[in-house]
Amino acid sequence: MTLDEFYGPALYRMRRAEQILRSVAQRYAEISAHDEDVRSVIYIRSRIKSPDSAKKKLHRLSLPETGETAMREIYDTVGIRIVCAFADDIYTAVDWLKEQSELVVIRQKDYCAYPKPNGYRSYHIRALVSVPDEEPVRSEIQLRTIAEDFWATLEHQMKYKKNLPHEEMIRNELKRCADEIASVDLSMQTLRDIILKSSQSTFRL
Ligand code: GTP
Ligand code: MG
Repeated sequence: MTLDEFYGPALYRMRRAEQILRSVAQRYAEISAHDEDVRSVIYIRSRIKSPDSAKKKLHRLSLPETGETAMREIYDTVGIRIVCAFADDIYTAVDWLKEQSELVVIRQKDYCAYPKPNGYRSYHIRALVSVPDEEPVRSEIQLRTIAEDFWATLEHQMKYKKNLPHEEMIRNELKRCADEIASVDLSMQTLRDIILKSSQSTFRL
């Protein structure tokens, strides 16, 4: 089933919301870049949830498996992911996003500070995106570090594998990697702060 078949005429509104989200994120990427080499946003990804994945989620929620219900009940039918360099960049970006006129933040979940039991770390924002001349569109913004994104991509692949051999061992190893990544992210952040401070004091001389 295609996106068009599943979401119908609403797909146009969703695509516009996705474009607006991308331009907001891009605006942030530009203003937050110190220069070509020191960027706080590494990349931005966005997508409209596939009919298959939306139907699975609706099924889990015991809701009718239609595009209309998906748009009404699920926040991540339109999703954007902002992948940052350092852990602190996430919080700076979140503060900035909350101030943008195109977005109304509904809910935030800080899985960076409070990771899921499997080790998943990201910051999730549910927001309504204002689309000119249209009803606002529900969306989910995810922010994570590049190291957390690396982890989440592999973990996501595992989640959808059935009858995976050594599943328990893989799960445990993934959790260990998630914790190591968090520790490395913290060290990198500390080192960056020291480097930035020392270059500022050099400039003052
Ligand atoms: P909220 O919707 O923010 O409350 O989070 P949730 O725990 O309900 O997550 P949900 O199942 O709604 O998933 C939303 C999206 O977050 C997913 O499509 C994934 O992109 C991401 N996500 C959530 N949990 C995990 C996880 O454990 N591992 C990975 N790899 N991604 C996750
Ligand atoms: Mg959810």
